[in-house]
Amino acid sequence: YKGDYAHFTLKEISEQPDTILRCGGDGGAVEQMAGEIRRAGTAYITGSGTSYNAALVARHVMSKYADTRLEPIIASELPHSPFSAGEGSVFIAVSQSGESADVIDAAAIARDSGARIVSIVNMRTSSLARESDVVVGMNCGPEIGVAATKSFTSQLGIIYKMADIIGGGRAGADFAAVSKAISGILSDHAGIKKLAGELRDVTDMYVLGRGVHYPMAAEAALKLKELTYVHAEGIPGGELKHGPLALMGPGVYAVIMNPADSTYEDTLTGAREIRARGAKIIGISDKNSDVYDHWVELPRVGESSYPLVEMVPVQLLAYYLALEKDTDPDHPRNLAKSVTVR
Ligand code: M6R
Repeated sequence: YKGDYAHFTLKEISEQPDTILRCGGDGGAVEQMAGEIRRAGTAYITGSGTSYNAALVARHVMSKYADTRLEPIIASELPHSPFSAGEGSVFIAVSQSGESADVIDAAAIARDSGARIVSIVNMRTSSLARESDVVVGMNCGPEIGVAATKSFTSQLGIIYKMADIIGGGRAGADFAAVSKAISGILSDHAGIKKLAGELRDVTDMYVLGRGVHYPMAAEAALKLKELTYVHAEGIPGGELKHGPLALMGPGVYAVIMNPADSTYEDTLTGAREIRARGAKIIGISDKNSDVYDHWVELPRVGESSYPLVEMVPVQLLAYYLALEKDTDPDHPRNLAKSVTVR
């Protein structure tokens, strides 16, 4: 039921101040998952689409704040990789639906080669949950829009909780502050709506980020392409000069995932290179710069917490651009909410 909202996608984006507070639940499941990782020799993490982007963020967060190595694997690639989990390993499968065939197959291969299975799922009665040794619930309520929105921030929230348990609080996620920051973005997004109007005729967008903001850029590009059918690519900031710069020119828009952390200046350098070729820059940041043609202001949160808030403005931008382009945000063409085909 979408109530007063025009689309489920907007409703689900708008629920995030609440859903971020519920991720992982309070039944000790995140602690159990942390215990599995502590005991494991090797820890793998898999997913598809948005859930794989969350896995890539997990690698950064767990390594930086919990000195724990996670090896991300794209679920659909695993059967085609020389993979054997090994006894004593743990395999974390991230899936909103818990029904993605690629993720279920990957988990089966991991189990058969010796791993214990931990799943991070929204649907607790799903096939993946049933086949897991430990189940951590996203608890964000049904996600009806085909584009993953609130489930992504819940996946990240669970990862931060796990990093804080293993790393002794160094991830420092203050969920009350994050929830308030997301509310702030939602209550004042007239600028994002207006920007979507300017982007009405755009056909090519690039999203840049460095460090943990690179998987965030990949997720931002996925949202843009899925909801608006614009060609959108996530690019690690430093890779520009190794190829993608050839594509920059008038008519192109580049979104810069650029919170004011240690990546800020280096990412701006890339933005300058792009702008010098005539493309326009949209900066997603808590710090303005004269390089930005459009500044989408992020609220200030603790430095480690940026990934928990920075996708929300991009989700809104993709949603309003979908309306400008007259696509159906809840049902993008050719896509299904849960991909049960192999
Ligand atoms: O249900 P899952 O998390 O396993 O789904 C994985 C992907 O199919 C899903 O994230 C897809 O990429 C979304 N439509 C992206 O918005």
